[in-house]
Amino acid sequence: MNPAEIESTKSQAHAEIGACTDAGALKDIERKYLGKTGVLAGWLAQIPSLAPAERPQLGQAVNRLKKELSELLSARAGVLEKAAAERDAVSGSFDPTLPPPPVERGSLHPITVLTREIEDLFVSMGYQVADGPEIETDWNNFEALNIPPDHPARDSQDTFYLDGPGPLVLRTHTSPVQIRSLQRLSPPLRVIAPGKVFRHEATDASHEHTFHQLEGLVVDKHVSVANLIGSMKTLLRGIFRRDLEIRLRPGFFPFVEPGFELDARCPFCENGCSVCKHTRWVELLPCGLVHPNVLRACGVDPDEWSGFAFGLGLSRLTMLRFGINDVRLLLGGDLRFLEQF
Ligand code: PHE
Repeated sequence: MNPAEIESTKSQAHAEIGACTDAGALKDIERKYLGKTGVLAGWLAQIPSLAPAERPQLGQAVNRLKKELSELLSARAGVLEKAAAERDAVSGSFDPTLPPPPVERGSLHPITVLTREIEDLFVSMGYQVADGPEIETDWNNFEALNIPPDHPARDSQDTFYLDGPGPLVLRTHTSPVQIRSLQRLSPPLRVIAPGKVFRHEATDASHEHTFHQLEGLVVDKHVSVANLIGSMKTLLRGIFRRDLEIRLRPGFFPFVEPGFELDARCPFCENGCSVCKHTRWVELLPCGLVHPNVLRACGVDPDEWSGFAFGLGLSRLTMLRFGINDVRLLLGGDLRFLEQF
């Protein structure tokens, strides 16, 4: 290494950098001169073996060159980068002036929409909204509701059974929240409980193994069927936004006595349609006065207290309200369906 060699290396490096048009090749040039095993590193390693008088001058010359070349390299890298961006812009692969893609907005599920409406309605009438677990004890789901183990009513509510500390089931209705509410709150009480329920069901357009119900329970002094009818009329007015004629038919549920099926005038027709199967009545909700055995099971004295309960089919009502013809759409998760709400 000597001053002449340093000079000629300098002009060679200048020429190579100036002629380079590719970022990768520029990296190679950088490695060749400035890398750990590059030309300049080799020279610096030789310095200690030079005559003491030569060391400072040559050392400084190499370091100056090192600084100069690294400045030159980064300036060239900047030029190449800018040129590449301009090329991309011209070829149309990236347009920095385009607006960003729109943010997709979610929406509420129709069952949620209806649940919230009904909750508002009942809260305005002094009801509390209660919640219960989807995995229930056999006692809460059946026994406390006056459905002992060998009762035939269990047949129509076959479900999924789980091993637990005691017998557990996926709840077949929201009625176990009646039991939980009676145990947690002391009467007088007014509660509604929306939620998911499960049954062993062969599925088709009107049957699903998982669906939604909304339970209602009122316990007070001297509660009568007249109170039940009045409350159900208010409920229907809230949902359908007008007065609908109703009728009660006897219905059997072990946890109410008397028990009813409540039908309403078909909200969709005057003379019969496919929704009411040309009967002009739609079956809306089972209900009745709370059976004394249910009150007893929860430690409430049936001679002092009485009440009514109802079980609204939320899934079915959602279908009626939004004109949905297949229950399986509700929980099917198909975006083409959900995006319509
Ligand atoms: N739990 C009943 C069912 O799912 C419905 C019901 C609720 C009936 C409350 C009467 C009173 O079939």
